[in-house]
Amino acid sequence: MKRLLDVLREDFQLTGAKEGCGEGECGSCSVLMNGDLVNSCLVPILQTEGAKITTIEGIAMTEKLHPIQQCFLEEGGAQCGICTPGMILATHHLLDKYPNPTMEQIQEGLAGNLCRCTGYMRIFESVKRAAELSTAQTR
Ligand code: FES
Ligand code: FES
Repeated sequence: MKRLLDVLREDFQLTGAKEGCGEGECGSCSVLMNGDLVNSCLVPILQTEGAKITTIEGIAMTEKLHPIQQCFLEEGGAQCGICTPGMILATHHLLDKYPNPTMEQIQEGLAGNLCRCTGYMRIFESVKRAAELSTAQTR
């Protein structure tokens, strides 16, 4: 019954996913499980058997930042950084679904992820920029 969050952080030393509330409210522990966004603080490890788990450590496949990470960096979408791994994974999930999201879709896509620092506007700008970048790259 150990939580996926604890297995990632303690057993695999993948400390990108953060514990905020520990109750499924803040999204700072978000990871992708078979492509779906989940709160790893709520997932018992036995439910992950055979599942593909992607953490923030796994989204940049090279030493270069993933374009979403780069946009958060350049647009000031990250301050203390506690929410940032979850925000970036939520953005990844959102852009998979809506490559060119409206502001409403961005707000809805990130609704499960709380931030105490940024006031959200810079995060939304980071997501918009990441969407523009990936749309331009696929043209
Ligand atoms: S720590 Fe998991 S949702 Fe807050
Ligand atoms: S950047 Fe600090 S909680 Fe979001």
